[in-house]
Amino acid sequence: MKRRTVLLAAGSAALAGSPAVFAQQPIVIKFSHVVTNDTPKGKGALKFKELAEKYTGGKVKVEVYPNSTLYKDKEELDALNSGSVQMLAPSTAKFRPIGVPEFEALDLPFVFNGEEGYNKVVKGPIGQGLLKKLEAKGITGLAFWDNGFHMVSANKPLLMPADFQGLKIRISGSKIADLYFRKLGALPQILAFSEVYQALQTGVVDGCENTPSNYYTQKFYEVQKHITNSQHAHLQYALITNTKFWNGLPADVRGQLEKAVTESTDYSNGIAKEENVDALAKIKASGKTTLHTLTPEQRAAWVTALKPVYKEAEGRVGKQVVDDLLKAAGITA
Ligand code: LMR
Repeated sequence: MKRRTVLLAAGSAALAGSPAVFAQQPIVIKFSHVVTNDTPKGKGALKFKELAEKYTGGKVKVEVYPNSTLYKDKEELDALNSGSVQMLAPSTAKFRPIGVPEFEALDLPFVFNGEEGYNKVVKGPIGQGLLKKLEAKGITGLAFWDNGFHMVSANKPLLMPADFQGLKIRISGSKIADLYFRKLGALPQILAFSEVYQALQTGVVDGCENTPSNYYTQKFYEVQKHITNSQHAHLQYALITNTKFWNGLPADVRGQLEKAVTESTDYSNGIAKEENVDALAKIKASGKTTLHTLTPEQRAAWVTALKPVYKEAEGRVGKQVVDDLLKAAGITA
């Protein structure tokens, strides 16, 4: 028994001393996410894989696991913390369980003046401050990845706030989404993304919110008779990694991966708008649902109904971040 231990130890010492053996072992990055490959985030993850493997000359191998094949919503961050995956891009609505609820300020309704307004916020001090909050949790925030503005749906038209009365609406976890749907008289329910289609189909929930690319690729439009392109809130992701893993990488490899992060971020953010325009056109062409847009009067009624949410949000995500965001948006609560 003793002899065997000694031999094994000698064997591993020999391996450790052999650069040839290590050269053959790529560093594996598991990148898990919940959407399909055919979405802004899915395509961004594949672009990161392509560039990371190219720039590191094969020293890094990226395994992308899309569509909740590896982990569902809630499990993702635990898996990152335990080292079971190395990269994620969760919606910023999903950071409360690890103690960073401030991200949910980005879910406030009608705060961004289009994509331009959104970009200003995440690229400026608010966005960068939010990513920095992850450091204390052992997570490195690498970038924001865009998706776009939410639509909302049910089996009846949702045009005025009163239309939401009593409807069970799936949300992804944000206490701000919880707040605004309650303000409209709905009953928000948290469900994992991978469970939404079936929940809509079987009537476990009556409706949901999401971007056109997610409605299209998850086929939500097949099980919702009416979709309103309300653009009431925005969906974005934080591209993150485990700090211990990231800082433990050889400096040259980390530099090459940072380049891959920058370029795949530009790519993913660059295609998000078009992906959503395409998805919306496909949903329309399917003839399986009725698409609605809000008239200026209807939109004004939503904005008025949801205005109290700004003040109430302070208790859920903190006053500072709400103040900063409203100031950036030019809104007085
Ligand atoms: C959701 O759960 O609705 C979103 O977070 C899905 C996504 O785009 O990651």
